[in-house]
Amino acid sequence: MASLELENLHVALEDGTEIVKGVSLGVDPGEVHAVMGPNGSGKSTLAYALMGHPAYGITQGRILLDGKDVTELGADERAQRGLFLAFQYPHAVPGVTITSFLRSAINAKRKAAAGGKEDPVPIPEFRKDLTAAMEQLKVPRELAQRYVNDGFSGGEKKRVEILQMAMLKPRIGVLDETDSGLDIDALKIVARGVNSLVGPEMGALVITHYARLLHYIRPHHVHVFVGGRIVESGGPEVADKLEAEGYQEYGEAA
Ligand SMILES: Nc1ncnc2c1ncn2[C@@H]1O[C@H](COP(=O)(O)OP(=O)(O)OP(=O)(O)O)[C@@H](O)[C@H]1O
Ligand SMILES: [Mg+2]
Repeated sequence: MASLELENLHVALEDGTEIVKGVSLGVDPGEVHAVMGPNGSGKSTLAYALMGHPAYGITQGRILLDGKDVTELGADERAQRGLFLAFQYPHAVPGVTITSFLRSAINAKRKAAAGGKEDPVPIPEFRKDLTAAMEQLKVPRELAQRYVNDGFSGGEKKRVEILQMAMLKPRIGVLDETDSGLDIDALKIVARGVNSLVGPEMGALVITHYARLLHYIRPHHVHVFVGGRIVESGGPEVADKLEAEGYQEYGEAA
């Protein structure tokens, strides 16, 4: 049993339009799975549905996390059980600093792990972890005291998503186009950050348009996602083939 298991997952919008049409996939700790597909094929919809976004209803199939069915759980409960989504378009949270946001998220997770009893992270430990993660991801120190994503540059937002992942230490990290908008140096820094997190404790599902990211984060499996379905799966060579040839052979204009 993989730590994240999708069984014949179907996802529909609130008006009933089906976007994801039967996806089955297993991600183990230590594994990186890449999902590549044309614009509008439903990749972000799949990511939102995984995370429990209320606007994306699961109409058929199941999501299992470490063997437990989480299909009916809310986003907060899924997060507490170790799912994490780095958003394609991170939202600003004016009034909440990065530091307090991270501390609340970590404490919510610790509380759930302690069976509902408060178990706040000791401040010195939190500070040490945050400083180390910020240094590793080269996030400027002053960002920690700014409101989450408020006025952040595109690249800063993406780096801060990975900073959250580094601090929350999920079982499964879902990265939705974390590479888009990053300059070359930032791309390498973020890739190094992700690589250092993937291991016996964490697996990753990486949604991307570019094989370039996958030269830095080597995927074990690459899935081609077209029209709400996985139409082909293979190794890293699939990403290189897509970059050269596009999606034409799958019936999509490239
Ligand atoms: N909340 C929504 N309301 C209406 N349509 C939606 C909504 N969310 C997604 N869609 C539609 O569902 C389809 C899939 O969108 P989705 O964002 O999942 O694509 P994607 O594969 O992530 O594309 P991209 O590569 O451009 O990020 C699109 O046609 C989109 O317009
Ligand atoms: Mg998307």
